Amino acid sequence: MLLSMKAIDKSFSGVRVLTAATLDVAPGEVMALIGQNGAGKSTMIKILTGAYSRDAGDIVFEDKPVDFRSTAESQAAGIATIYQEINLAPNRSVAENIFLAREPRTRLGLVDRRKMRADARAVLKRFNLDVDVDRPLEDFGAATRQMVAIARGVTQNARLVIMDEPTSSLDEREVAVLFETIRTLKADGVATIFISHRLDELYAICDRVTIMRDGRTVAVSTMKDISKIELVRSMLGKELTAFTARVHGEDIAREPFVDATQLGAGLRVRDVSLSIARGEIAGLAGLLGAGRTETARLLYGADRKDKGSIRVAGAEKSYAAPADAIRDGFGFVSEDRKVEGIVPEMSVRENMTLAILPRLQKSGVVDTAEQQRIVDRYIKALGVKCASPEQPIRELSGGNQQKVLLARWLCMNPKLLIVDEPTRGIDVGAKAEILKLLRGLADDGLSVLMISSELEELIAAADHVTVLSDGYSVAHLGAGEITEERLMTAMAHQDEEAA
Ligand SMILES: Nc1ncnc2c1ncn2[C@@H]1O[C@H](COP(=O)(O)OP(=O)(O)OP(=O)(O)O)[C@@H](O)[C@H]1O
Ligand SMILES: [Mg+2]
Repeated sequence: MLLSMKAIDKSFSGVRVLTAATLDVAPGEVMALIGQNGAGKSTMIKILTGAYSRDAGDIVFEDKPVDFRSTAESQAAGIATIYQEINLAPNRSVAENIFLAREPRTRLGLVDRRKMRADARAVLKRFNLDVDVDRPLEDFGAATRQMVAIARGVTQNARLVIMDEPTSSLDEREVAVLFETIRTLKADGVATIFISHRLDELYAICDRVTIMRDGRTVAVSTMKDISKIELVRSMLGKELTAFTARVHGEDIAREPFVDATQLGAGLRVRDVSLSIARGEIAGLAGLLGAGRTETARLLYGADRKDKGSIRVAGAEKSYAAPADAIRDGFGFVSEDRKVEGIVPEMSVRENMTLAILPRLQKSGVVDTAEQQRIVDRYIKALGVKCASPEQPIRELSGGNQQKVLLARWLCMNPKLLIVDEPTRGIDVGAKAEILKLLRGLADDGLSVLMISSELEELIAAADHVTVLSDGYSVAHLGAGEITEERLMTAMAHQDEEAA
């Protein structure tokens, strides 16, 4: 084995999060690490890399017992980590990011920019990535940023690369590029630990899988010997109460709530029409860059439209700012929880009720009983795993932070909820729960616009789907027409034309 973690225990202020957890990885192997939100995956990784200390257990890496005290130490020993939230310097160039804090030097001790750029180009070329290494990282999308993080690891002679949910912000094309990268690493004998909630991916790239549940390692298997149903059963410790897909019958004529026609703004949204009725879940599909998020931003007033019309409950609207849309009952759950979302130091309770504080106040005093009632309700409804509502949100696992954000908007009782990748980073069990909850709210009259890269999710939850390609709405699929094949055909629309 390249890595062997044995009987790892860890508690945070008296709360056990890992109990005798184990993880073994062979050289050149791609090991999947899976489990529900809060199962302990990221904690296991942080203990390995020295970000957290362990309470008990042994770690052997390359046949030597190790006890890394910092991530710098584990890096020096050959372990590269791509975290759940990428931590690179966005305003520095690609080359600088790859060599940050270990820039090649000239004999005079100055940074050897020429060598740095050449080396950066060389390593990216190995992964078939053609990017201008002088441009700042922020000019590039999530996929490239991730690849840069990987390149950074590889140039440190990593023997083990850890990827904590690398694909959650990637579209299918980008996932394919990432998988190629992992295969290149594998060919060089570099092992990978791959954490993901998208189970289908595991079969495409992983050799073995380690399954965690409630802080314990409950199963290890070769991928080819375990079915998806068994994976899920082991993760959840029970059968998945599957989200029963809506029976797509006929289109039901409903009262429209939002009607957008021929919207355009800049280059990303050229001509988009869509409508969302009361009580329905409208899907918005498309590849990355198709203009989905940009369209949503036009609807709720974050960006101004150049052309087209937006009618809300029958009246022409032109929101100058999101606050105006919120006043009309709009809610928006962003795809990027780090930027728009959480206040790390605040508690789960505070984060959840941030937006409704004005409503909870009676003559300047917060009605704490009402606040508690709301918080308890959503913690239960979404299955938020936390020690108590008073726990700082930064201590929650990634998926559980996401649930708190969703709850923040739900407790405002919006009329329209726009959700951008609502189940990103959320485990299969909780995903079904969230879709069920949205369905229930829709049945009570809520309108939902759901942006999703996961076709399965659209098929299961949406009443109809608008497909965008290159800034145009290229297809509207009604009830009974939403199939994987039709979605894919529509999404590839532009490419087909080009071909
Ligand atoms: N610094 C911390 N302080 C207190 N509790 C923590 C801390 N870090 C993690 N935890 C707790 O440890 C448990 C495991 O969290 P971890 O982040 O390892 O889960 P995960 O398996 O990575 O989940 P996800 O799929 O949501 O990313 C959670 O209950 C979490 O709240
Ligand atoms: Mg995690």
